[in-house]
Amino acid sequence: MTARILDGKAIAQEMRAEIKTATARLQAEHVTPGLAVLLVGDNPASRSYVTAKEKACAEAGMHSEEVRLPAAATREQILAVVQRFNLDPRVHGILVQLPLPDHAMEPAVIDMIDPAKDVDGFHPLSVGRMMLGLPTFLPCTPHGILHILKRSGIRTSGAHVVVVGRSNIVGRPLANMLSQKSEFGNATVTMCHTGTRDLAKYTLQADILIAAAGRARTITAEMVRDGAVVIDVGVNRVPDPAAKNGFRLVGDVDFDAVRAKAAAITPVPGGVGPMTITMLLYNTLESARRAAARRAGAQGDWLARS
Ligand code: GUN
Repeated sequence: MTARILDGKAIAQEMRAEIKTATARLQAEHVTPGLAVLLVGDNPASRSYVTAKEKACAEAGMHSEEVRLPAAATREQILAVVQRFNLDPRVHGILVQLPLPDHAMEPAVIDMIDPAKDVDGFHPLSVGRMMLGLPTFLPCTPHGILHILKRSGIRTSGAHVVVVGRSNIVGRPLANMLSQKSEFGNATVTMCHTGTRDLAKYTLQADILIAAAGRARTITAEMVRDGAVVIDVGVNRVPDPAAKNGFRLVGDVDFDAVRAKAAAITPVPGGVGPMTITMLLYNTLESARRAAARRAGAQGDWLARS
């Protein structure tokens, strides 16, 4: 078997065209969705993600702005920028690029983001609402994966999904969303992580295997059942002297060998990555719509009620 490629890039383009049309409609009502990004330090991967996010905003017709702080920025300096974004009516979405140079600051910084502008879905209020199945901003990478599955006609209902990785950004929210009784969920979910003994015992049982471990070659062909669907969330830089910048990107999955066994697989790059940015645009548009409705005095806004 040679797996069908799940083309995240094409799905992302399709969705971005829809978002661009909706953005233009909102602009006709004099509201331009705006995303504010804070980048602390000079991690090269974070820098390139932030650049890609800003380019995507411009292509969708959205406003974006960026603040950069040095790696040595204090907690107070970071919180002051977030607070400025909270109070700026042109900003509908706030994104603090993670990881921060000092990981210990992350909970306080995320806590400071106005939940009404939390387009990453990382604020404790957003996480709690997501876990309860209440309307909220869903975290972008897990939400993007659900859209890849849906738009590729892959049903999760009744399937056994094995998620490898328990990060707050991907594995944990994704496992929760997939287990909910919802259009995108209703799956039986197993979550594996670095403490899992005999990882292959679990991955071999997966109808849908999601690799979000953050380590190249975590999933090899012997760990995948014939005919499984494989979603690769990994973005790992491996040295490549032949490449222009000295590295190339690979996922967590040994792509060529696993492709020969699986029914469908996402490539890296061009799979999950473009969907993450797309869902960020989706959430920013939704936040701007809600701000416009609040301004017009509409009732029933879910964050205003919370
Ligand atoms: N770092 C890696 N992925 C993400 C993401 O989706 N949002 C933010 N803010 N930081 C990240």
